[in-house]
Amino acid sequence: MSKYVPYCSVEIKFGTKEALRELVNDCGPEKKVLVVCERFCTDLWDLTADIEKNVASGNEFWMDTITPNPTQQDVYNGLKLIEGYDPDFILAIGGGSAIDTAKGVSNFHYLFKGKEITIDAITELLKTGAYKTEHEVIDIISVPSAAGTGSEVTQFATIWDINKTAKFSIDTPQNYPKMSLVIPELTLTLPTKMTFSTGVDALSHAIEAYWAKPTTYVVKDIALKAIDTIMTYLPKVLADPQNLELRTYQSRGALLAGMAFARTRTTACHSISYAVTMQYGVPHGIACALTLDAVSKINREAIVCADDLFDTFERHGGLQKWLDETAAMAGVTLRLKPLGVPEKGIDHLVTQTFTKGRMDNNPVDISPEKVKEILLSIYE
Ligand SMILES: NC(=O)c1ccc[n+]([C@@H]2O[C@H](COP(=O)([O-])OP(=O)(O)OC[C@H]3O[C@@H](n4cnc5c(N)ncnc54)[C@H](O)[C@@H]3O)[C@@H](O)[C@H]2O)c1
Ligand SMILES: [Fe+2]
Repeated sequence: MSKYVPYCSVEIKFGTKEALRELVNDCGPEKKVLVVCERFCTDLWDLTADIEKNVASGNEFWMDTITPNPTQQDVYNGLKLIEGYDPDFILAIGGGSAIDTAKGVSNFHYLFKGKEITIDAITELLKTGAYKTEHEVIDIISVPSAAGTGSEVTQFATIWDINKTAKFSIDTPQNYPKMSLVIPELTLTLPTKMTFSTGVDALSHAIEAYWAKPTTYVVKDIALKAIDTIMTYLPKVLADPQNLELRTYQSRGALLAGMAFARTRTTACHSISYAVTMQYGVPHGIACALTLDAVSKINREAIVCADDLFDTFERHGGLQKWLDETAAMAGVTLRLKPLGVPEKGIDHLVTQTFTKGRMDNNPVDISPEKVKEILLSIYE
């Protein structure tokens, strides 16, 4: 393996629903494809008949149910579906949950050759990182539909523990999709709250990439462009959700944000968010955005070129003001109490917010006492 790492090894294209239909039908007697996409989405996008026809002719496998915030069970279901076969590629169409599930299946498929697939064995791989060895994986073509996670250009996949005790990250260069087809048209069907949540997830990726310990000038330049694009266009999309031009800008912002944090990973805001999502079911992006402003103030002194970042926030009216006003357009209040977190739950929450590789990736050390202070400052 080369010691030189390319900035981004994914072929990235923008396209239309017709290009996606061609991909769905890119199979034949010589080729087998695993499609990972929820059935209600294929209904929305008029793809169900094409996939069903291919499944009936024996060329396609279809994983049509994926849990939002996927667990070991989702990876297990995908692996069982293709047990005994070696698909030529996986076509993952959807939000981060579909693409991350595809990454788990792609990576673990060859590791289970001749072995029994069990939830325990999947958990063991996730816990030990034993999947990181160089081995064959199934190529992934990803088609992001939620303009949020950036999973289409990262080597990460988030798998949530089935027992709600941990959040696992699959993190290996083998997980980069080979190609990503970005189709902004697909995001026209995103409900309002999802549009907001995925939009501020992308914003969190860009902001956290800007200040993460391993950041670089290239990352900062990409991140700033993503931040400016999202802060400009997300409120416009919420005001005019059927406008494809505006949705296209939002997809571009989320993609750039993905390219920024792909090289740095995330920091304190994501670290704290995982516990909020796991314990109280707060959607991922909303859970990340909750602490962005408080953490930005703590980090400011340690950020190289901080003024460029804070000037961008100011041009959009200030970060917290922008977040609160944009959240209100989606009917969301970015505070813990209205999101269902009881005040007596905060002490326990604090103990769960230290995610390895995330909190220690923050440019400033944050103590449990500081996390408690942050959580109380965004309580109501
Ligand atoms: N891999 C990464 O780098 C990365 C980064 C951030 C977050 N994540 C993970 O991604 C997951 C969240 O992904 P997400 O925010 O994209 O949401 P999601 O994939 O969980 O989707 C939420 C729901 O919206 C539906 N949906 C998706 N696109 C739609 C569309 N265009 N129209 C209508 N409905 C649509 C989905 O089918 C699903 O039911 C979490 O598990 C999170 O931890 C991964
Ligand atoms: Fe995220």
